[in-house]
Amino acid sequence: MDVIIVNDNLEGCTLGAKIISDVVKTKSNAVLGLATGKTPIPLYGELVKKHNEEGLDFTNVKSFNLDEYYNVPPTKEGSYHYFMNYQLFSKINIKKENTHVPNGMAQDVEKECNEYEENIRNAGGIDIQLLGIGRDGHIGFNEPSCSLTSRTRLEALMEDTREANISDFGSIELMPHYAITMGIGTIMEAKEILLLAFGESKQDAVKGLVEGPITSMCPASILQMHPNVKVIIDIAASKKLSKIDFYKEKTKLIINNEK
Ligand code: GLP
Repeated sequence: MDVIIVNDNLEGCTLGAKIISDVVKTKSNAVLGLATGKTPIPLYGELVKKHNEEGLDFTNVKSFNLDEYYNVPPTKEGSYHYFMNYQLFSKINIKKENTHVPNGMAQDVEKECNEYEENIRNAGGIDIQLLGIGRDGHIGFNEPSCSLTSRTRLEALMEDTREANISDFGSIELMPHYAITMGIGTIMEAKEILLLAFGESKQDAVKGLVEGPITSMCPASILQMHPNVKVIIDIAASKKLSKIDFYKEKTKLIINNEK
């Protein structure tokens, strides 16, 4: 796991966008795993900029999002379909039919989840998976205590997660209780993983992710077992780590390589 410490979220998102755009430049039919939440918004802004100003081409790119709220129509503002269209898809030249977000309105949820997995496999697997992290260490909507080999499925949301995401729907009463999420096993099959975490509220989650024991109580900690993970954090999110000097040295190395 490469831990990269940057000054702030903008620096982190600019670096993240560069890493993703390099994948797209190297492989024009790259398969991107995408995430929602506030964290990656500036990264999507950077990708849009690269598309507009540098001609970054998404014609043959496919994407699979991590998750979607259950029973929320894709046209509703809090839905992750809406988020992705607004933040990215409508602003770049990706083909609509090449973008995938789980269908939270599916009548047959099991079938939807199995097909989602099958579609990822048929696309050749995910080349790079972008992740944020919940303050309890969840990735996607894989909450503490989930199976570390889980697949795409319907999951219940913890109260803390519902509270943290209130801004999606405006009030706790309107927050969904369930979501369809890629599983931890699904995420772990991505060839490369890029996780972003910024701000003080992510300190405990980052500590568990990077230095904690591998435990389902911090689902992100399983990423320690993945061979190709970059974790980009800001100084505020790094505060509880014990090996900060080492990570800073490594950051210099990695950033030099990225130039
Ligand atoms: C939700 C999403 C996660 C995201 C997390 C953190 O739970 N399902 O994918 O990482 O929120 O969101 P934020 O980036 O807004 O802190």
